[in-house]
Amino acid sequence: MCGIVGYTGPQSAFTPIVEGLRRLEYRGYDSAGIALGTSNSLFVEKRAGKLANLEAALPANLPTVHSGIGHTRWATHGGPTDRNAHPHLDNEGKLAVIHNGIIENYAELKAVLQKRGHTFTSETDTESVAHLLSDLRKEHQGDLSAAMRAAVAQLRGSFTLLAIHADNPSTIVGVRRNSPLVAGIGKGENFLASDVAAFIEYTKRAVELGQDEVITITPETIEITDVHGAKVPVREYEITWDKEAAQKGGFAHFMLKEIFDQPKAIADTLIGRLSDNNQIQLDELHMTDAEIKRIKRISVIACGTAYHAGMVAKYAIEKWAKIPVDVEIASEYRYRDPIVDQDSLVVAISQSGETMDLLMAVRHAKAAGARVLAVCNTNSSTIPRESDAVLYTHAGPEIAVASTKAFVTQIVAVYLIGLKLAQVRGELSDAEVKNLYHEALKLPGQVEQILETVEPLRALTRTFKSNNTVLFLGRGIQYPIALEGALKLKELAYIHAEGFAGGELKHGPIALIEEGTAVIAILPPHDEHALDEKMLSNIQEVKARGARVIVIAAEGVEVIGAEHVIRIPIAAPLFQPVLATVPLQVFAYEIAVARGTDVDQPRNLAKSVTVE
Ligand code: F6R
Repeated sequence: MCGIVGYTGPQSAFTPIVEGLRRLEYRGYDSAGIALGTSNSLFVEKRAGKLANLEAALPANLPTVHSGIGHTRWATHGGPTDRNAHPHLDNEGKLAVIHNGIIENYAELKAVLQKRGHTFTSETDTESVAHLLSDLRKEHQGDLSAAMRAAVAQLRGSFTLLAIHADNPSTIVGVRRNSPLVAGIGKGENFLASDVAAFIEYTKRAVELGQDEVITITPETIEITDVHGAKVPVREYEITWDKEAAQKGGFAHFMLKEIFDQPKAIADTLIGRLSDNNQIQLDELHMTDAEIKRIKRISVIACGTAYHAGMVAKYAIEKWAKIPVDVEIASEYRYRDPIVDQDSLVVAISQSGETMDLLMAVRHAKAAGARVLAVCNTNSSTIPRESDAVLYTHAGPEIAVASTKAFVTQIVAVYLIGLKLAQVRGELSDAEVKNLYHEALKLPGQVEQILETVEPLRALTRTFKSNNTVLFLGRGIQYPIALEGALKLKELAYIHAEGFAGGELKHGPIALIEEGTAVIAILPPHDEHALDEKMLSNIQEVKARGARVIVIAAEGVEVIGAEHVIRIPIAAPLFQPVLATVPLQVFAYEIAVARGTDVDQPRNLAKSVTVE
């Protein structure tokens, strides 16, 4: 959840480190710190709060040095204070460590290290690593890489660690276990970071790192070794997006930019997926037709917003491919006895590819013999690497903590999976698949159309800014979208929001309705007349009890009883959720702006949730 940057090269290290941290601040933002390697000592500064607090605390005459490490934190052990901010130092103040993840055996290590005379100054789990590394470095004649390998053997938990020592400041050593770390290869300079966004400005050459591999960078060299010290080949890949993609591009917030990125993101995810003879092309599945025909059940696992995409997957795959699908919150999955075996396909959906709850669920499914297909937005991240196959969404970097464009592309990706399975299993004819694919290709233009007509919604939304409760109603395939609308509003505007299946209202939640309660009702796809009528009755029920009702409905569908109707274009029924999502994102964004909350970095959250 924390952001990590390391730099060594000819530049004044402060700039790439702080700029890198700014790009990673979405990962955690309750404190920040740097350690710069001056000759024979370290310059260290750290501050609670956002990166701006750290920058304000730095002296005007900051030393010009050419290597260092920097960190933005999402607190786990110890509150967000100056003292608990990273880097953490050894007793001599010559070795600095930054960390993402959790060291599970930190208390045992701390007790041993204290007996050996180490003095601890923070409440963090990380500080024990600084002291441990310090002892191990001495044991290994000043070799920080060897010390890191020895430390890893003693650590339990998940971690990315970077360390620097004042005696050899141009060398930075890192390691990862169940937590992200990538290297960037520059010209006479090298980088380490939690995410390529940190160094995209300087290089597009990235290097991935395996579990427990130790990486040592100097300005001219990159060396990777396994825990035993054996050299591991450097696995280089090219970053396919550029720095503009990770900038706001004139929008007030990343989230707004990402909402407007959606037409392109959807188009990029869909492009080139139908062959000339009308076959869905998903070679990434790495499954033969015989294997696809053998699938008996599908389990979709994911967290948060990605879980809502998984719920949409259930409707689409069951409808088209006629395979039973269950959808489960990843953090619950391995703690019961899920029915999963060689005939199961497990679909793991994740924007970041690093979510720890999901990674653990993936491992559980694999151990039970299932084939795991990741649907992911982040190249070379851990979950795709540990899965049997990966279908990448092409949303581009998503910087705002609240997920928008990643969500709609996840839905589009699961549509493609559903169509592929249905076609191979003979549940949909080639003509039907072709027709549905061409309907899907209309989605980017339809989202564009919604975004062009969004102004009246933005104005209306502001009139709800003082509401304490907002309820979202959906039925059928729009039910997951009601849940997603509520989640977006909660996380952005800190308003109590709940999503309900319209039919459930009378079984309890209707008690929440009072004069002025805002209810946003999403009508089922235009051709689901039976459900439509039921939903219109639900609207009447809440209206009769004083609710202010906004309805999202396809063009031409008759709506009675709403204060305002937001029209979305008519799409194929199962594709309507993509369109209904967009006004709900705008609604949450606009209320958040009106309430003055931090839209891109809402309180208590982090973009990449690498703890369980
Ligand atoms: C909400 C949000 C989170 C994530 C969830 C899973 O806007 O972004 O609910 O969807 O933490 O993250 P990924 O998709 O990275 O596994």
